[in-house]
Formats: sequence, structure tokens, C-alpha cells
Amino acid sequence: MILVTGATGTVGREVVRGLPAGPCVRVMSRDPAKAEGMFPRVRTVAGDYTDPPSLARALRGVHVAFLVTTRPDRDDDARFVSAARTAGVRRVVKLSAAAVLDDRADDLITGWQRANEELLRACGLQWTLLRPRAFMSNSLSWAAGIRSGRTVRALYGTSPNACVDPRDVAQVAVRALTEEGHAGRAYTLTGPQALTAVAQTRELGRLLDIPLRFEELTTDEARATLSGRCPPPVVEALLASAERQREGAKAQVEDTVRVVTGRPARSFRQWAQDHIEAFTSAPDETGTR
Ligand SMILES: NC(=O)c1ccc[n+]([C@@H]2O[C@H](COP(=O)([O-])OP(=O)(O)OC[C@H]3O[C@@H](n4cnc5c(N)ncnc54)[C@H](OP(=O)(O)O)[C@@H]3O)[C@@H](O)[C@H]2O)c1
Repeated sequence: MILVTGATGTVGREVVRGLPAGPCVRVMSRDPAKAEGMFPRVRTVAGDYTDPPSLARALRGVHVAFLVTTRPDRDDDARFVSAARTAGVRRVVKLSAAAVLDDRADDLITGWQRANEELLRACGLQWTLLRPRAFMSNSLSWAAGIRSGRTVRALYGTSPNACVDPRDVAQVAVRALTEEGHAGRAYTLTGPQALTAVAQTRELGRLLDIPLRFEELTTDEARATLSGRCPPPVVEALLASAERQREGAKAQVEDTVRVVTGRPARSFRQWAQDHIEAFTSAPDETGTR
């Protein structure tokens, strides 16, 4: 039995889509009805990292688990790993982040992911670590500005990031969940080229067939924007991460997606083509986000 956590999220939903549908897959969500709506042919189970008994129920009979956590101020990984050990899980495939390899990265989110990796490595279970660069889907946060004013606003528009399609992260996860030979491996996952926000804006404008403007935010403007959706320590971590990108720390391209899956990593153009509707219609119109 394979358990997928984070299954209603960006990477997890693609992992579920990539796994063979059937009785060997179980999806965990705090809201099983929502997960059932997304995956009508997959078994869902209620589970919340803050509720250890729910983790025990979700992990019953599970051999391999895909672990996604998102809260740097909580010990969600510790609770899940403890429940996984008790349940007799053999291997955990953990979604981490490429920044853990950067010596200069000392922000809250990277420190949290490093600690999560350490915990998993030391727990006695088999482990596989996925360390993606920024998701291409982060550009969905530009959709409202594109729709309302044909403008993308972001920090450091000319600094490159070897961003990766979440579907490629998911395909590597599917391999690690379903094949032998991935235990004890850590995979750094990038797209096929490093792109700047200015270049991404140009690509989106080409696909939409409209001129798009790029407006570079100051750090204070970015802080104010991020403060609307994240707590202050996370905002500062994201700003520190952007500063490392400005210094060129995120431009390295890796071939891991092709090596693990046998298929080249998708380009930003491909990702944008497949999600272009998100930039032309509001979420409630498409029903897809
Ligand atoms: N965004 C990036 O560019 C990037 C780059 C590198 C690494 N990462 C890493 O990727 C991870 C985030 O992945 P993602 O973007 O796919 O996630 P996401 O879209 O934000 O989804 C988060 C998932 O976590 C689940 N969740 C939240 N709170 C929960 C709780 N208390 N108990 C159980 N489940 C809970 C949610 O499920 P329900 O609501 O259904 O319960 C949801 O499916 C983070 O660890 C991040 O550090 C992100």
C-alpha cells in the first residue's frame, strides 16, 4: 500500500495521477471529501499531522509513503515519521528543497527542511529525498496581475532560477515510490534551463499573445505583498531566498529528472502552455485551482 500525503496540493496531486489507480494507493487529507472529489477512483483517508491517532489510521497497512509538509513552525515530520515507524512503513519519500545544499542558506524554511531530512535519515526507515528548485507553478501568483493589468510584479527580475515543473517532481516521486533502487538517494530536481522572471513574463506574453510589462518590486514592496499571505518569519525566509537567487545561487541545471524517469525535464514554455487558462480566467471560472 502506498500512502500519499499532500495529495490535494501542487506536487501530491500529480503523484496520485501518476500512480496506478487501484487498491494499492491511499490518499490522506484533512478533508477526505475534497480529496474524493479530486480522485474519485482512489481510496481516501482523513489525516492531520496535528492528530497522531489519525496518522496511525492513515498509515495502517502502508509500506511506502510520500511525505509533504509545509509548516516550518511545527513538528509535522516528527509526528508522521514516528507514526510511520510504529505502523511498519518500509520507506518514506520526502519532498524537501534544493536549498538544503546551499551553505549560504540559513533561513527558517531551509533550516526546517534540513532538520526534517536529518530526522528522516536517522529514524531507521528507508528514505528518499526529493530536493526541487522553485516550482514553475509559483508563477500562478502572477495571474491576477496579468489579468487585471497585464503586469508581472516580482523581486529581482533578471536573476535566474532553474525552476522545475511540479509534474516532473511528481514523476520522480512515483518512481521512488514504486521501484526499488531509490532508498538512501537524494535527488536535486531542476528544469532544463535557468530562467529569469523577466524571461518568464516574455514567454507568458508570447503564449497569451498580449504585451506584458514586468515591474521589479523593491524589497519593502515584496515584504508588504508577502505579508498579506505569510507570517513574518516566513516572509523573511522568502526574502532571504530571493536574495540568494539574486546572487546566482539557483541557476545550476541538473539532469536528474531525465536520469530517474528516462524523460527530459519539461520546459517553462511547456508548463505555461498547459496552464495558460489560469492566466486568462479567474480560478472560479476554470474550476481548476
Ligand atoms: N513552492 C516551491 O517553489 C517549492 C520549492 C522547493 C520545495 N518546496 C517544498 O514543497 C512542499 C510543498 O509542496 P506543495 O506545494 O505540493 O504543497 P501545497 O500545494 O502547499 O499543499 C500542501 C498540502 O499539505 C496538506 N496539509 C496541510 N496541512 C496539513 C496538516 N496539518 N495535516 C495533513 N496535511 C496537511 C494539504 O492537504 P489537505 O488540505 O488536503 O489536508 C495540502 O495537500 C514544502 O515542503 C516546500 O518546502 C516548494
